[in-house]
Amino acid sequence: MNLSGKRIILGVTGSIAAYKSALLTRLLIKSGAEVQVIMSASALDFITPLTLATLSKRPVMSDFSNKNSGEWHNHVELGLWADLFILAPLSANTLSKFANGICDNLLTATYLSSRCPVMLAPAMDLDMYQHPSVTSNLDKVASFGNIILDAESGELASGLSGQGRMMEPEHILEHVYHFFSPKLDFKGKKVMVTLGPTQEALDPVRFISNHSSGKMGMAIAKAFQIQGAEVFVVSGPVSLDLKSENFHLYPVHSASEMYQAAKSIHGQMDICVFAAAVADYAPAEVAKEKIKKQESELTLHLKKNVDIALELGKVKSPNQIHVGFALETENGEANARGKLEKKNFDLVVLNSAKEEGAGFRHDTNKVKIFHRNGKEVQSDLLPKSRIAELILREVKNVPVWI
Ligand code: CTP
Repeated sequence: MNLSGKRIILGVTGSIAAYKSALLTRLLIKSGAEVQVIMSASALDFITPLTLATLSKRPVMSDFSNKNSGEWHNHVELGLWADLFILAPLSANTLSKFANGICDNLLTATYLSSRCPVMLAPAMDLDMYQHPSVTSNLDKVASFGNIILDAESGELASGLSGQGRMMEPEHILEHVYHFFSPKLDFKGKKVMVTLGPTQEALDPVRFISNHSSGKMGMAIAKAFQIQGAEVFVVSGPVSLDLKSENFHLYPVHSASEMYQAAKSIHGQMDICVFAAAVADYAPAEVAKEKIKKQESELTLHLKKNVDIALELGKVKSPNQIHVGFALETENGEANARGKLEKKNFDLVVLNSAKEEGAGFRHDTNKVKIFHRNGKEVQSDLLPKSRIAELILREVKNVPVWI
């Protein structure tokens, strides 16, 4: 894609990943963008302004004024000049300043002055990235409308391995392309996503459930929305902020409520993604009062729940696409292929519960996607947002779609 005429501020903060901003600058310039680099004081310890000035073909700014020439760098003008502001890498320190409106250098002043969209590519060590103060700051800046480019997983500078690496420059470039020329391949399509666990009541205070966080389903719902679809989310109880997204929301608790909600809208849908971890069994009877402690053992009688994907698969029309998930601890591939047939899916996404960093609760996942025609696609361990994009790409490869 050609970015000519696009003006981008690239903010670089103090992180070992600052070396990647050289490649990002080069990729943006090669695509035709004008790039103004602003570095924080601590970024200067990691990469020289000379490198970034040479690659961006413009002097790098890091202070309010150039001490030698007396020239003043006007952060308000800079903020208005840009079509897009990318922070890559974004340190935990600058993130916390953005989250709290702190304005103590040219970079933070330009952030507060800019009217253009902002993309943030955090980079930090695994434990820092997971710290509640960092995650709540990321949630806060996301609520300001900033676009978060999730950190990727892999080896970190500390020697630890996990999520925290700055998104690779090539991947950031894809987001920039998408931002300036959004792919609206699902415009006019209605998509239902079931997500999260179900809760099956035992008595007024207890239930049977599972560890599903709903994160994978949420990432898929968001990806469809970004690509233009009207998204209907049927969600079990999750701690995600689904209300602030622009979804049609159907909150449910039990499998039977999820089935009723999904069935009521299924007929209008073009695509259905069954990402929920539906409990296969529910207590045969829900006690009216709290079950009291027994002397020794307690035996529960469970009844089989409705299989939502199976039932809706029976009434699926030839131009509807159904995507199912399989979470297996053994014989994954054979079971996933079996579910394609049994539940009339067009695609099955297999994630292994035993894969490190994949599955429930994690922000990353590693999947294998099975098509009906035998085609199989294996992913790396990636942020769930990128797995979602991969699933959408494969939905476009389903014959019904073509
Ligand atoms: N599913 C569903 N309703 C159920 C159970 C599962 O809609 N009652 C959907 C899931 O959302 C998923 C797919 O069916 O897309 C497969 O779910 P999974 O739990 O892996 O398999 P099951 O069919 O329940 O079989 P098993 O537990 O024996 O693996």
